Amino acid sequence: MPKLRKAVFPVAGFGSRFLPVTKASPKEMMPVVDKPLIQYALEEAAAAGITDMIFVTGRHKRAIEDHFDKAYELETELERRGKEALLEQVRSVLPEGVRCIYIRQPEPLGLGHAVLCAQPVVGNDPFAVVLADDLMDSQPGAMSRMAQIFEKEACSLLGVEEVPRDQTESYGIVTVERMQGDSARIHSIVEKPKPAKAPSNLAVIGRYVLTPRVFELLAAVTPGAGGEIQLTDAISALLAEERVLAVRLPGRRFDCGSKLGYLQAMVELGVRHPEVGAAFARYLDSR
Ligand code: UTP
Repeated sequence: MPKLRKAVFPVAGFGSRFLPVTKASPKEMMPVVDKPLIQYALEEAAAAGITDMIFVTGRHKRAIEDHFDKAYELETELERRGKEALLEQVRSVLPEGVRCIYIRQPEPLGLGHAVLCAQPVVGNDPFAVVLADDLMDSQPGAMSRMAQIFEKEACSLLGVEEVPRDQTESYGIVTVERMQGDSARIHSIVEKPKPAKAPSNLAVIGRYVLTPRVFELLAAVTPGAGGEIQLTDAISALLAEERVLAVRLPGRRFDCGSKLGYLQAMVELGVRHPEVGAAFARYLDSR
């Protein structure tokens, strides 16, 4: 199995839970303190040795492309004003040795469809899928752990986390064999089951490593409710053919696709921020 070098970032969704802010600007550009969600995600992938960052974009997502491009005017101006620290921050947005590739998803037909749009670039290689709205707070990063397991096991991996029973309807839910360390073979996967019908409370979160076979299975998936092509359906078919492992990821996950999770991320990363952390913590204590 080739090494894990490619990551797909599906960023073409509507972000309807964050309207109106997502009306004309992408959810993935929302900042946690001073960095957009998509930058945390890209840095996590780069730290795992991934070099090819493949963004599946849609309407109103130009800001993401601009964010990772070189900003000549801004850099010249910062240089002229002698703002060295800011200049360095702007220049290091894209880590060394990393390249960005952009593909359009013409219509938001679901996460599965977005992943399928990346097939011409991913080709016959294994690849990661990173959902930037799940902000993973851990050192080393969640994707580094997945890359490590992939190197040893050479099979598809799904990041998982136990969720409260009443939240199963927001996730893909898996059943697994006995956990060995932080991973276990997956038996079954079902998309957004009602709590009473959920086979477990082990939820798939926004980190995947997939073998290219998933593309053929995705192409055969029939659209479900709302015309969406679900990644879960293709993974369910993959389970019948290949070993797929669930991996409990290190650190804490913030669900920044929801308002509560986003605010929690802002507080937790805010109190640790080198510039404003101490003052922000004092402010929180004082109110
Ligand atoms: P979500 O289910 O979070 O949908 O998609 P969303 O549109 O981003 O947000 P809500 O639920 O309307 O608030 C999970 C991931 O899949 C991407 C999204 O951008 C997000 O990263 N996605 C979803 C696509 O790229 N294309 C799609 O057609 C659907």
